[in-house]
Amino acid sequence: MSLSTEQIKDANIKYHDAAADEYDAKWGIDYGPIGKSQVAIKTRKVLGREPHFARALEIGSGTGYFSLNMMQNGVIDEVVCSDISEGMLKVVERSAKALGFEKRVSTLHTEAEGFPFEDGSFDLIFGHAVLHHLPNLQASFDEFFRLLKPGGMIFFAGEPSATGDSLARHPKTAGHRLSPLWRKALRVRQASAEVANGNGPERDHAYEEGHAMEHLVDVHAFKPGDLSDFAKHSGFDEVRVIGEELSANWFGWFNRALEADGVPEDIPYIWRQYAYRGYLGFQWFDRVALEGRLPASIFYNLMIGAQKPE
Ligand SMILES: C[S@@+](CC[C@H](N)C(=O)[O-])C[C@H]1O[C@@H](n2cnc3c(N)ncnc32)[C@H](O)[C@@H]1O
Repeated sequence: MSLSTEQIKDANIKYHDAAADEYDAKWGIDYGPIGKSQVAIKTRKVLGREPHFARALEIGSGTGYFSLNMMQNGVIDEVVCSDISEGMLKVVERSAKALGFEKRVSTLHTEAEGFPFEDGSFDLIFGHAVLHHLPNLQASFDEFFRLLKPGGMIFFAGEPSATGDSLARHPKTAGHRLSPLWRKALRVRQASAEVANGNGPERDHAYEEGHAMEHLVDVHAFKPGDLSDFAKHSGFDEVRVIGEELSANWFGWFNRALEADGVPEDIPYIWRQYAYRGYLGFQWFDRVALEGRLPASIFYNLMIGAQKPE
């Protein structure tokens, strides 16, 4: 089904507004040592060892995962968190206040194509897991270029790679097939059975609806060359696209598929620890052994960095 630009934006607003309150819990977003180090690892890959920017703009900030951790890491002094979903921005405001950053963080409800700022307003424009939702990417890159000072940088991470995404189908399929055995071994009840027993029709309905909408909100999976072409076309220099996470994502998707149909409360703590620590281990392995050695296209996530000429 091909959707118009307005339909894509509308789907994104509905989907992300509905997800906002549970978003941090669902994706394990935190502002402690783990969140800070996860964001620092990604920042370092694109922006180098000790990057520092005075004024930054985040595109599709969601609940603030990147902005607030980059601020905690000393990468940015001030940030405007922008998003098409007001629900997400309310969570940013709460979290910024809890971290004592309310004077340095502001929010802006807007889509990623037209911003009410003068040319050259920012030193850094960045985002995580957002470009694949944007219907008019060239227009967005042109706007990022306009908004940056000469010498300013863009940094986007967590974008799905077309090849990496199709390779990840294998562990997902394997996980779904093995899921009944896994549930039996760990004595995890089947979520749909719980629904059949009358314990969760609303949740089931919301889940189905959310799942169906994922296909509407994810409008791109990229080849590395697609991303660099957008940046170059807008006038950026020093464009580099990096692939990250391969074995970590295979491991992660396999486990998520095993768990997908289980009642969350039944999943043992020890299993969650294994899944989480295993993921970190594979992430480390990808970083030291695979990233930079294998072609960017086969990794699950793509990152892009580029500079506006001085
Ligand atoms: C997958 S979430 C990522 C959120 C956050 N960056 C993170 O890493 O947790 C994508 C975010 O992009 C926002 N978004 C989607 N389409 C957008 C658009 N056209 N303009 C601005 N933001 C958009 C969504 O509302 C959502 O908050």
